[in-house]
Amino acid sequence: MSGHEFKSYFPDSGGIDFSDRQTNIDDAARAELRELAARYPQPRSALLPMLHLVQSYDGRISPAGVTACAEILGITAAQVSGVATFYTMYHRRPAGKHHIGVCTTALCAVMGGDALLECVERKLGIGPDETTADGTFSLERLECNAACDFAPVMMVNWEFMDNMTPAKAEQILDDLAAGKEVRSTRGAAITSWREAERVLAGFPDGLADEGPSAGEASLRGLKVAAEKGWKAPSVPPAKAAKKQGEK
Ligand code: FES
Repeated sequence: MSGHEFKSYFPDSGGIDFSDRQTNIDDAARAELRELAARYPQPRSALLPMLHLVQSYDGRISPAGVTACAEILGITAAQVSGVATFYTMYHRRPAGKHHIGVCTTALCAVMGGDALLECVERKLGIGPDETTADGTFSLERLECNAACDFAPVMMVNWEFMDNMTPAKAEQILDDLAAGKEVRSTRGAAITSWREAERVLAGFPDGLADEGPSAGEASLRGLKVAAEKGWKAPSVPPAKAAKKQGEK
């Protein structure tokens, strides 16, 4: 292990395996990583999107990806690893072609999220943070996805599947496994987790505007307010000026 690598004091916590040499990070990938770094006044601000791009190439945060980010940004591999192991959207082990997330935070849980997770676990034969042997699916237990008005929600490659039931989830998984076209309940076509990671990195695939930008449940309060002529109370001028000064 070189002096630049991250030595964990919690060896069982799933750090990056630096003995793993498999990678698709080539010159083209490095050029794209440099392109991301060049988008920011402080290049290291690009680290989060760069890590998403590493995942789109390697299906996980690979040691080669960590090294490439560190070299391009002029920081240590330990610093890159520290960021990659802090955020839950970065995977240290290969994710599946389709990454399934099931929200079990309070509102989804009471609306059936726990039963949904159990169903998906049974169907795929894996638990959270695991990937099926054939590499088709990985599974994650999610915290609130800010879609509580559509609870319980399941995510497929970060696209929303709203108002899920175990039966609907099983059908989606069957269709994905069979390679059939699957669409988010909000309209977007499901591609793959790696393609979604490329979009998160900042390379749009042109599909962002597919489907509605806000669903009926999210807009219901606005509609009721418009019908009843309700408005937000206006802020007295003195308070507004104080708030402005605090910014
Ligand atoms: S609790 Fe599941 S989206 Fe908010």
